[in-house]
Amino acid sequence: MQLTNRTILITGGSSGIGQGLAKALHQLGNQVIVTGRRKDRLEALCQAHPGMQFFVMDVSDRDSIRQGVEQAQQICPKLDVLINNSGIQRNFDLLNEELSLEALGEEIDTNLNGLIWTTAAFLPLLKQNTPATIVNVSSGLGYSPLAVMPVYGATKAAVNSLSLSLRHQLRDSQIQVINLAPPAVESELDQGRRGSNGPPVMALDSFVEAAIQALQSGEEDIAIGMAEQLRQGSRSDPAVTFARMNP
Ligand SMILES: NC(=O)c1ccc[n+]([C@@H]2O[C@H](COP(=O)([O-])OP(=O)(O)OC[C@H]3O[C@@H](n4cnc5c(N)ncnc54)[C@H](OP(=O)(O)O)[C@@H]3O)[C@@H](O)[C@H]2O)c1
Repeated sequence: MQLTNRTILITGGSSGIGQGLAKALHQLGNQVIVTGRRKDRLEALCQAHPGMQFFVMDVSDRDSIRQGVEQAQQICPKLDVLINNSGIQRNFDLLNEELSLEALGEEIDTNLNGLIWTTAAFLPLLKQNTPATIVNVSSGLGYSPLAVMPVYGATKAAVNSLSLSLRHQLRDSQIQVINLAPPAVESELDQGRRGSNGPPVMALDSFVEAAIQALQSGEEDIAIGMAEQLRQGSRSDPAVTFARMNP
């Protein structure tokens, strides 16, 4: 995909991968709009990068998304790239009888429903600005999950699936759908759960550099580093790949 002179809206631009991509895409000469729930973070990012814009949008809240579309029509009517990046990750022991059903649904509302609602709500604006691009941020864990975070892996497998169907439905349009699966990357996602003995974690700058390169190359199904190994392993030997992830 072309990565200059685009108008790019990133969900979850207030930290981690979204923020890293926002900075790099701004640097490349794009109009970048970051969204998320933490206004102070978004404001600070835009202050440090003149020209970058933001508005608050909670992707797990349909009304907030509808308001976001209105804001986008005002501040970036030429929107031609949507990066669906917002996400949360939780560990759950499904045998724990004290688990709240509400807590079990949060990842689905953010990682899956949020992505579907945002895509559907912003499609009319993207259609006015073709050629356009939708980038769905999935995960290597969508190919082979970590059982300690059972809902997370399920939402990311669903995102991989959704990207295929959306791409098919948009095949006669000028809207390209890219699925981007990161490996473990340094960010706030794990909320400090990973510890030093966990799997290797990619530096954010290295990930952003690899992601930008892959996006520019025209690839539509991007899996970076360990995520590519999980994608291949899930196809060639799913049981062994799962067992390696979940000893
Ligand atoms: N880091 C990794 O190891 C890794 C690996 C594979 C895939 N990913 C995926 O990469 C994406 C970015 O995650 P990250 O690693 O950069 O984690 P992060 O640093 O925690 O960033 C997550 C972003 O999502 C936003 N977000 C969370 N809930 C939201 C909601 N309800 N509405 C709007 N925005 C929301 C957060 O902003 P606010 O809190 O301000 O709303 C934040 O900007 C996620 O989809 C994640 O699943 C990450």
